[in-house]
Amino acid sequence: EEDVRIHRIASSIRVIPDFPKPGVMFQDITTLLLDPKAFRDTVDLFVERYRDKRISVVAGVEARGFIFGPPIALAIGAKFVPLRKPKKLPGEVISEDYSLEYGTDKMEMHVGAVQPKDRALVIDDLIATGGTLCAAIKLIERAGAEVLECACVIELPELKGREKLGDRPLFVLVKGA
Ligand code: PRP
Repeated sequence: EEDVRIHRIASSIRVIPDFPKPGVMFQDITTLLLDPKAFRDTVDLFVERYRDKRISVVAGVEARGFIFGPPIALAIGAKFVPLRKPKKLPGEVISEDYSLEYGTDKMEMHVGAVQPKDRALVIDDLIATGGTLCAAIKLIERAGAEVLECACVIELPELKGREKLGDRPLFVLVKGA
């Protein structure tokens, strides 16, 4: 039954070659969102895994972690914290720089959104090199909280992002190439 759900999810993700640049096979989750059963199954699989883990905060990575994180947070009774691109959050922030294929980017989190006693789950749509999730983990740990796990819909195993996360567990639903 779980296999049926995973298969539906995998089939609903559209792969677009050479986007946003030549050589990249873009994993497009907007087609998953067009299939209410696949979207429901995606959220349910995460909720089933995390509902009894005493998670107090779901942190979602901009932009597509903002799609999957909130329904999971509501279902497990956790708060939702957006991890945003620079200069978007109006309050006091802490920020982490991280490297991209070309250049660097920055991720920000509101001071006070995550407390030292919090138990966090980090959500994004996809892990490629792992740089984005690493920055998310650092922000939450700098706030004094524990990251129990990171969860993504899709992993690109060839890019070995999982290795960059150290001993923080990573849970994914489907693997892409
Ligand atoms: C994608 C994806 C992850 C990140 C993963 O975001 O949604 O957030 O890349 O890459 P990494 O594991 O190599 O760090 P993208 O850069 O497309 O930004 P966007 O979601 O704001 O469009």
